[in-house]
Parts: sequence; C-alpha cells; structure tokens
Amino acid sequence: MKILLFGMEGQVGWELQRSLAPLGEVIALDSGSPPPWSADFSHPESIAATVRRAAPDVIVNAAAYTAVDRAEDEPETARLVNAASPAVLAREAAALGAWLIHYSTDYVFDGSGTAPWIEDSPTGPLSVYGRTKLEGEEAIRASGCRHLVFRTSWVYASRGRNFARTMLQLAAQRDSLTVVADQFGAPTGADLLADVTAHAVRAVRAQPELAGTYHAVAQGETSWHAYARHVIAFAREYGHALKATPETVAPVPGSAFPTRARRPANSRMDTRKLRNAFGLTLPPWQSGVDRMLREVLGDKQEEAR
Ligand SMILES: NC(=O)c1ccc[n+]([C@@H]2O[C@H](COP(=O)([O-])OP(=O)(O)OC[C@H]3O[C@@H](n4cnc5c(N)ncnc54)[C@H](OP(=O)(O)O)[C@@H]3O)[C@@H](O)[C@H]2O)c1
Repeated sequence: MKILLFGMEGQVGWELQRSLAPLGEVIALDSGSPPPWSADFSHPESIAATVRRAAPDVIVNAAAYTAVDRAEDEPETARLVNAASPAVLAREAAALGAWLIHYSTDYVFDGSGTAPWIEDSPTGPLSVYGRTKLEGEEAIRASGCRHLVFRTSWVYASRGRNFARTMLQLAAQRDSLTVVADQFGAPTGADLLADVTAHAVRAVRAQPELAGTYHAVAQGETSWHAYARHVIAFAREYGHALKATPETVAPVPGSAFPTRARRPANSRMDTRKLRNAFGLTLPPWQSGVDRMLREVLGDKQEEAR
C-alpha cells in the first residue's frame, strides 16, 4: 500500500508517521517539502500535481490551519488550507480511486446544550476556523471519493506546546491560577488518533462500506479547569516542584478570557459509531494524558540533572 501523508510535522502528522509505517510505503510531506513534492496548502492546485505524481492508494491529510484566533484575521488563508486544499485532495482521490483520510473538529458545532454530539447533529460553527473546517468536510463528502473524516477535540502530544505544559509552567511560577470551567470536552492524544487511523485504514480497505464521518475522541469528559487540576495533582505526585496546588486552581467562566474566536462550550462527542464500526475501545482521557505527563515530566527531570 502506498500512503501519501500531508502535515507530517504537526501533532497528529508526527504520530501518523509512526502508526502508518507498518502498513506500507509512506511518503510524508509538510509545507516546506522541496519541489517536486509541493505540499503548501495555501496553493491548493499545486497539491494536485503532488498527488498525481505519488499516485497513492491512501491520502492522509493531517495538515490544517489550526491557529484558531489568528484565523479570524486571516479567513482567506484559513479557507485555502482547511477547505480549498482538502477539496482538491478529494477531487484527486476520486480520480485515482484512492482513499482520503481527513481530520475535523468539535468546532463545527455551536457548543449548545450538554448532550454529546453525534455525527448527524446539526452543525453551527462559531468561528472562521470552525466554518472553514466544516467546508473542508463538506467538500470531501460531496466529492464522491472514498473517505474517512475523523472529528476530534482538544488534541495534545508530548512533542511541542500543549495545554498541560502551559499549566505546568504557570503552576511553577504562581501560587494560584484561574482556568475556564464552563467548556467541556475530552483531551485526545495525537498518538491515539494516529493508532485509530491505522486500524481504520486497514479495515476500510477490506470493508469499503465503512467509509464516512466519525467522532474520534478519548472516553469521558472534563472541563479545562478540571483538566488543569488533574495535571497539577499528577505532577505533584510525580515529585515535580510546583507552587500551585489543585486547590489553588480557581474556576472562571470563558468570558474571563476574551478571545478573538468564540469556543464551543459543549464539545462532548459521542464515539459509539466509531467503536461499533471498527470494534475499537477508546481509553479514558486520563490514561493518555498521564502517559504524556510522564514523558514530559521525565524529560524535565533529565534536563535538571
Ligand atoms: N489541535 C487540536 O486541538 C485539534 C482539535 C480538533 C481537531 N483538530 C484537527 O486535527 C488535525 C491535526 O491537528 P494538529 O493538532 O496535529 O495540528 P498542528 O499540530 O497545528 O499541525 C498542523 C500541520 O498543518 C501544517 N500546515 C499549516 N499550514 C499549512 C500550509 N499552508 N501548507 C501545508 N501544511 C500546513 C503545519 O505545518 P507547518 O507548521 O509547516 O505550516 C502542521 O504540520 C487538523 O485537521 C485539526 O484541524 C485539532
């Protein structure tokens, strides 16, 4: 199997390089890949030539414009990367008879209510990022190509910046923190998404009728506030010196931190469709976060030696 992977340097793309490797030949690209392997999503048509040259069996697209607040000021670039380029990938996949695997987001929903969103729930993005990601999904579904779209939320990886690292940094500097307590979702590891992707790619090659849109998040739910408390409690137990304690993390409403882009309050997602279709178990969000924290905190201890 020949797999063409876009966005190889991102959180999910990095993990996909690992999880897809046993499936076949992987051509992994990012925005800086030299010619003739153009993978700059702000020039959608140039990507068509790359797909034709590679002639893959499977295209996996982990590239996206993910700067949620900056997207409010750069809607055209966000649209090129999140909507126009996936549309070109879908068109080329349809022409080749290749599979297209793509990722989308909880931000396609308006965040109302408290019930977990299912795949058919009405969408209502609140931001440019959410709107452009929805346009990308819709273009893929309309293209007629064989596809999997995984909607996920609150993605973290041990590599690069993430919410837990920011909390650890702040908790080391300050006695107390304030964290948003009225937005709910499930922190989801890039490694879990990459592993789910590899399983699903194998499955759909044998059972093409499994094509479609799926919610893929870790099990359970939390708020950013409870997530921060969990991170700080874990780090202290691990022996990491922090000024703040779980008790000194104060809950505040999202309105206390005004941002350019509005965030959905309810990002809960129902994963039953994914689990049933592919026979997968999704672990509780804490297990992936704890593993990531052990990695991050282990690195910090190494640095301190
Ligand atoms: N992060 C989250 O919390 C979250 C939540 C829900 C859904 N998702 C979705 O999950 C997927 C993976 O997200 P992630 O967290 O792995 O994102 P990420 O770490 O921000 O990585 C995004 C990748 O896209 C690439 N990219 C950005 N602009 C590009 C351009 N013009 N041309 C080519 N590549 C470009 C980046 O490469 P360069 O840096 O080289 O530009 C980077 O490698 C995305 O579809 C995202 O929408 C993410």
